[in-house]
Amino acid sequence: MNRKTLIVANWKMNLNVSQSSLLMHRLDKKIVSHHNIEIVIAPSMLALQPLSKEINHQKFSLACQNAYFKDEGAFTGEVSFSMLNGLVNYGIVGHSARRIYFHESLEEVRDKVKAAVRNDIVPILCIGETKPERLADETSQVLHDQLTSAIYHLTSDEVSKIVIAYEPIWAISTFDGEQSKPADMQHALKFIRHQIEDLHGYDVAKEVRILYGGSVDSHDILAYLSLEDCDGVLVGAASLNYEQFSTIVQKAYTLKYSKE
Ligand code: PGA
Repeated sequence: MNRKTLIVANWKMNLNVSQSSLLMHRLDKKIVSHHNIEIVIAPSMLALQPLSKEINHQKFSLACQNAYFKDEGAFTGEVSFSMLNGLVNYGIVGHSARRIYFHESLEEVRDKVKAAVRNDIVPILCIGETKPERLADETSQVLHDQLTSAIYHLTSDEVSKIVIAYEPIWAISTFDGEQSKPADMQHALKFIRHQIEDLHGYDVAKEVRILYGGSVDSHDILAYLSLEDCDGVLVGAASLNYEQFSTIVQKAYTLKYSKE
């Protein structure tokens, strides 16, 4: 079992096109490629096209932060996964900001996951509990509901290729930004893998990459990546700083090399 480590930068609604280009240029200078690590950048929708022409595709892949589940039609203001086909390799789906600010339902997330897969874009499905849910001991139930509904229409083969990001909402910098203890996160990551195994079997569960996200920075990256079921990280705030983000990537390389 050798799941390729995935480091995803979620720039959220930050950086205009020229700022995105500048950050990308800086990252390209600082970061060297490694065959066992994939780096994915999720800039604003507007910056995707220009960045796709500028980036070193051996080193970086692109992701959209969201897209609509219909392929085309009278959906003013929306961009579809089918329009992004060929431009991005990955698509973030069901991020907590979308579920909370834009009231994305379980059904919408499910349709977006399916639309991404249909258009050859690997969904990075975000799931995670709120603080009240955690305090009420409902984490497993929430993860189960969000996961099973989102992958409901996928075949086992499709499930084996998706990425799941466990992002406890209380740990995300935009919300409470409470510091999670890396060791405490393994339980949820393992629970997610077990759920996949229950639904699609051991072979599929061991293929699926599961990321952790929630205020990850260059200081705690190794603690998260050392968890048994953690195959990478989804980084928000720290990914906007090229020193921080390149240190995160560098530390991930060091860990991989030490295991090779
Ligand atoms: P954060 O964001 O690293 O700023 O907490 C993570 C995310 O929202 O994906």
